Amino acid sequence: MKELEIISGKPYRIYIDNNLDKLSTVLEENKINSKMKCFLITDDKVYKLHKDVIEKLKKSLNMELYYFKNGEESKDFHTIEGIYSFLIENNCNRNSLLIALGGGVVGDLVGFVASTFMRGIKYVNIPTTLLSQVDSSVGGKVGYNFKGIKNIIGSFHNPEFVYIGTNFLKTLEKKQFIDGLGEIVKYSLIRDDGMLAYLKENYKGILERENDKLLYLVKGCLKIKKDIIEQDYEDLGIRNILNFGHTVGHGLEITSKENLSHGEAVALGSLVAIRLSEDILKLPKRIYNEVEEVLKKLNLPIKHKVDNYKLFMYAINHDKKNDDSIKFVLLSKIGEPKIKMEVTKEQLYHAIKDSIG
Ligand code: GLY
Repeated sequence: MKELEIISGKPYRIYIDNNLDKLSTVLEENKINSKMKCFLITDDKVYKLHKDVIEKLKKSLNMELYYFKNGEESKDFHTIEGIYSFLIENNCNRNSLLIALGGGVVGDLVGFVASTFMRGIKYVNIPTTLLSQVDSSVGGKVGYNFKGIKNIIGSFHNPEFVYIGTNFLKTLEKKQFIDGLGEIVKYSLIRDDGMLAYLKENYKGILERENDKLLYLVKGCLKIKKDIIEQDYEDLGIRNILNFGHTVGHGLEITSKENLSHGEAVALGSLVAIRLSEDILKLPKRIYNEVEEVLKKLNLPIKHKVDNYKLFMYAINHDKKNDDSIKFVLLSKIGEPKIKMEVTKEQLYHAIKDSIG
């Protein structure tokens, strides 16, 4: 098992393994035992898929179970109210612990509840999707969507620990697995540590979800994320590089009416950002072809027609990561992202046409 210590805000550890065999030892190490009242919160899909894990935890902990409907539509205040009510009805107190078991929606909602219930209680995160294992479970960002704006309400609240079992990834649907790969390609571009070449050479094993490949990717991404959030936990500067590909990605995700997953949209957004980087930062043209080839190998999209350009621009301009103008994270080289690069609407229009359009 590999461990990473995150020193930003309240420090915590990430445990990374294929399986959950060492979870009971980790719980003990973190002084979580049957004397503590625990609340495992998940969604109906994860509940059905991983009943065995939940039953095992139930035997060793004093644990109540709550689950809500799977999906991004559940990431709202209605679900949060349901969790608050359940916690109150079951006498959750300031010494209780929440356990998030699931993807990014579960982790973000449970983290938000933990940050607000009785002014803050403890939680642990056991992410089950590739996207949440490589990104959202680490960094302390928790929250929910409101009035159609993603993650507009939220806070920072670190877990007691994050336990990653890559075996969870074996039961993901293909689209959901590929969703996470889009975010991994982003990591391979913002840091030059050989991950892009690794993706190119090992794509078959990755798509077959071989253990060593999964562990390599999860550890690799989290090492990058650790380094970034330790410099800028509150997302006031350098952490913004994690949004590479996300400005256009966000607009595509909204206008595609859920045909594109987050990771697919980020992959397309990365191509547009690379095209803009050629124009604005003189990024060598060969990078585009290299990234396009990797995306194809990983079954990620490389073309997408923006159906409703007006709505797309509206979504981009209302992205909370932007001020008045459209600001992008661009690349001067692989591993050298530059934040807050101003892009005109015309430059963006041409870049889309010359890349994914
Ligand atoms: N997922 C972007 C961040 O954690 O800042």
